[in-house]
Amino acid sequence: MTKEKDAQAPFAENAKPQRSRSRYLYTLLLLVPVHAWVNHQWTPFGAHRGGNKCASSNSLCAQVDALYPTKNTGLWDEVGDIVGTETFKSKAIEWLAGAVRVPTESYDGMDPVGVDPRWDAFGPFHDYLLGAFPQVHATLQLEKVNTWGLLYEWTGSDASLKPLLLAGHQDVVPVHPNTVSEWVHPPYSGYYDGELIWGRGSSDDKSGVIGILSALETLILKGFQPTRSIVLAFGFDEEISGTHGAAFLASRLLEKYGQNAFALVVDEGGGFTEVYGTPVATPGTAEKGYIDIKVAVAAPGGHSSVPPAHTSIGILSSLLVAIEANPYELKLTREDILYETLQCYAAHGKTVPPELRKAVKKAAHSDKGLRAIEDILFTELAYASLVKTTQAIDLIDGGVKTNALPEQAAAVVNHRISTRSSVKETQDHITTTLAPVAASFSLNFTAFGDVIASVPNAKGTLDLSPAFSHSLEPAPRTPTAGEDADAYRLLSGTIKAAFNAHRGYDVDTQEIVVSPGMPTGNTDTKYYWGLSPNIFRYNHKNSGNKVNRLGGAHTTNENIEVDAFLEMIRFFVALVLNADESEL
Ligand SMILES: *[C@@H]1O[C@H](CO)[C@@H](O)[C@H](O)[C@H]1NC(C)=O
Repeated sequence: MTKEKDAQAPFAENAKPQRSRSRYLYTLLLLVPVHAWVNHQWTPFGAHRGGNKCASSNSLCAQVDALYPTKNTGLWDEVGDIVGTETFKSKAIEWLAGAVRVPTESYDGMDPVGVDPRWDAFGPFHDYLLGAFPQVHATLQLEKVNTWGLLYEWTGSDASLKPLLLAGHQDVVPVHPNTVSEWVHPPYSGYYDGELIWGRGSSDDKSGVIGILSALETLILKGFQPTRSIVLAFGFDEEISGTHGAAFLASRLLEKYGQNAFALVVDEGGGFTEVYGTPVATPGTAEKGYIDIKVAVAAPGGHSSVPPAHTSIGILSSLLVAIEANPYELKLTREDILYETLQCYAAHGKTVPPELRKAVKKAAHSDKGLRAIEDILFTELAYASLVKTTQAIDLIDGGVKTNALPEQAAAVVNHRISTRSSVKETQDHITTTLAPVAASFSLNFTAFGDVIASVPNAKGTLDLSPAFSHSLEPAPRTPTAGEDADAYRLLSGTIKAAFNAHRGYDVDTQEIVVSPGMPTGNTDTKYYWGLSPNIFRYNHKNSGNKVNRLGGAHTTNENIEVDAFLEMIRFFVALVLNADESEL
């Protein structure tokens, strides 16, 4: 997961009925990673949503039944039995621990492949995979994209079926040398303590990559032959935004398979955990947008002994004050993913605080209910940030000498764009906010290439531009209701099957609830929009880590419970078999 995603689930502990408000809000947030889709007719309580096999009668959070392979029942049972054995457990530990022992760090500002020698760290990792997964490498075709990107294809027997794309990333966040001593077990030891596998990448995202490969290796050994092709895409710089890895993989995938060629895409991003006494899975079905905006002021230089009333730094300061005084609108709507997830909690959570449950139920038919939810939840930044466009002034630069007036001063404002907004709206908002300030200082004002104001005797200039290379629109929403949501229902049923099977539950058990979700940051899927409308950021990781938040992803003491890893493998087995049998 990218750094931003940390904010998604920092509170991995089970909800308890008695807790401070702040505490319960945090727990709730964790799962929320939310989404609400838009392209369905909104219907009041009690209404049935088209296409859902088993919509609960009292809720907007419609659920499907667990979905088990039928054509491959024998295989599913057999693999299920294998995954439960001590022999397989040892094998799985070795698979993941071995991968953790090969450091594959990616660093901000890396030069292209072929220029920056640090990419060579991926060579040993490829060697490791080759040795650890002989069946996969004997059976699937492997193409390396931009040297270190891994693109596998397991060709199915029916070329008319759209393939399944499973994604993950090989790189990990660097371990800062000063923090090595804080690790209970060294970061690249892959140490297994009888319950947990420790080390950088054990959770993010080597568990995803190795989980997928372990599932396929096992299926091949059991003689499975796919009808629907299965494609794997493993980037190598997700943690530094994917420009060398997933961006190249995306072009190659588009070239080789075409636009919307995949039935569904499943990448890292969301998991499941217990909230309000109920396990909830939150596959990411949306992502916020992103833009860094540079606010640059230029004003005449000169000697500091004869200064004007405002230097470029003083003017910039006024502009920044205006920006913070004009935050983006914070409002909960029924189109927000958060609304959707809250409906799931209200409908299925066992220990939801009464005031919250009441507000959520009311919100289904009354805007007063929405406002009541805002009052309860939006005091928490983590909630508010899921819904609104956020802004944060993160960089500032100006001035070189105390006796010289600064000719230039600039700041960069980071924005995470609401799923209901756009890059353009964000640019317009900051432009509108700053126009009167620019006028008050008699500045010529240009924004994103347009002249906003030019004044006869301008005292300086203000320019707004996208900083660094990229901006990103909010991701297209994956359909989660109605006739376009077959892939979502397939995934939901698969999640329930994996969950039930892993616990030895009866096939009809309806314990885990599936809700649309949203990671707060971006994944490699930002390059994959053209490949399928059905993109899910989900790998069935149990987020209820006993040791630390998010299993320590991006920080010290990253780890994963072996049991959680085994459940991920089971999920990928179920997904491959279910996708193979489906008519998507
Ligand atoms: C401001 O814009 C006007 C009109 O384009 C131009 O003549 C003037 O030189 C500009 N002033 C500065 C300080 O850039």
